Amino acid sequence: MSDKYTRFVSHGLGKDIAKRLGLPQPVALRRHEPGRPLIEGPVLVQGSTSGADDLAATLLAWNLDVRRHAIPKEKLGAIILVLDELAHPGDLEKPVLTAAASLRDLAPNARVITVSRTADSATEPAAAAARQGVDGLLRSLAKELRAGATGNGVLLADGARTTSPATLGALRFFLSGRSAFVDGQFLTVSSGAGQLPDDVEKPLAGKVAVVTGAARGIGAAIARTLYRDGATLILVDIPAAGDHLAEVANEVHGTALQLDISRNDAGQRIIDHAATRHGRLDILIHNAGITRDKLLANMDAGRWNSVIAVNIAAQLRINEALLASEHFGDAPRIVSVASTSGIAGNRGQTNYAASKAGVIGMVRATAALIGERGGSINAVAPGFIETEMTARIPFATREVARRLNSLQQGGQPGDVAEAIAFLASDAAGGISGEVLRVCGQNLVGA
Ligand code: NAI
Repeated sequence: MSDKYTRFVSHGLGKDIAKRLGLPQPVALRRHEPGRPLIEGPVLVQGSTSGADDLAATLLAWNLDVRRHAIPKEKLGAIILVLDELAHPGDLEKPVLTAAASLRDLAPNARVITVSRTADSATEPAAAAARQGVDGLLRSLAKELRAGATGNGVLLADGARTTSPATLGALRFFLSGRSAFVDGQFLTVSSGAGQLPDDVEKPLAGKVAVVTGAARGIGAAIARTLYRDGATLILVDIPAAGDHLAEVANEVHGTALQLDISRNDAGQRIIDHAATRHGRLDILIHNAGITRDKLLANMDAGRWNSVIAVNIAAQLRINEALLASEHFGDAPRIVSVASTSGIAGNRGQTNYAASKAGVIGMVRATAALIGERGGSINAVAPGFIETEMTARIPFATREVARRLNSLQQGGQPGDVAEAIAFLASDAAGGISGEVLRVCGQNLVGA
């Protein structure tokens, strides 16, 4: 699970060799640690609209060092490019090229974030073209940034403004070290719902959360991150993983529920456990998942069915039970773990990709249902993450897979957990039916 190469090329001789041979030069990413500032260095808010003014005023109130105009040669922590009034592709030139002049002044691990409107909410073709243009612009810029810097975008649908709670929540997430391995991605804010936390270090205080597949890997990292953020936890895994599950549950002061999620009564068992101990459940994280890889030509019913049963059919059944329950919170939140295989496809993974693409379809269709209860549902699609699963990939294949993204390294389980914790928080309340990739901007596939 270690990435010796990244450590070797981070300094001294290794750095020199990599530079001379033109080899990848991944850098250690800035990750969130409690107590650390949201972003190091000034934040340039570029754009001349009233939405840009409002946003800059809000960031000032957060005590960030905000600039409305660049100071030559000053190192910047972030550039926020506000493009919320585009009417024609010609409108891009001035704000974009003004921001471009500051790109060389970005500090290592800096952030570039666009704030613009969704193209499909435009009524005029020229406005839609300009808005969609931001997509190509941002994704290309993210591929040009170096030294751990990332580029991501916030898209505002009709009901959202530059200072809506979830716009600010998404901006905080993208600015912070919590989004270290999120690159070249957009989050759409569809409404003014949501609420920023009173205590930024404990955004999940008072929430009861269930995490499935929590005995190890990404699930255990999710449990630790939600606990750090203040949640009370119920951890689920199969009975065979009972010992590891108990260890993680003890560590995060939660309770363990040994349960195969593909059982017909899994949803009811989860609700009963939560209701008995806490009187309710606020957050459900569908993380448990399995792979049974084979080329489709060699696929058998056992491999196909087990992957569909655990990765998607179980989630559908559990959601149905929870959404029918009076114990599933006032503003319930579901976050499901998909995969970039479900977006771009992956050789040998037709069953897995069908199940993970299924998760994406499920999330989009469930958004309206859970919205009726004031809640939200989203998915996170991890790319190459350093886990026991990926450590088993043969060396050469693994090395190629982990370098083929804009950050030239694999993500950590904690990176996936951070994205999930954000989407499970009330700060993301106005974001629903979305899929956020945590993949360092994979260069292959979608
Ligand atoms: P893992 O195999 O290390 O952990 C999965 C956990 O789920 C295990 O503790 C397992 O016992 C549990 N589980 C499996 N079937 C279950 C069932 N029927 N009922 C209850 N628990 C069950 O996997 P990892 O790497 O931590 O992956 C977690 C999630 O992230 C999965 O959904 C996986 O598909 C997804 N993912 C992982 C990526 C990676 O690079 N590791 C990339 C993309 C997605």
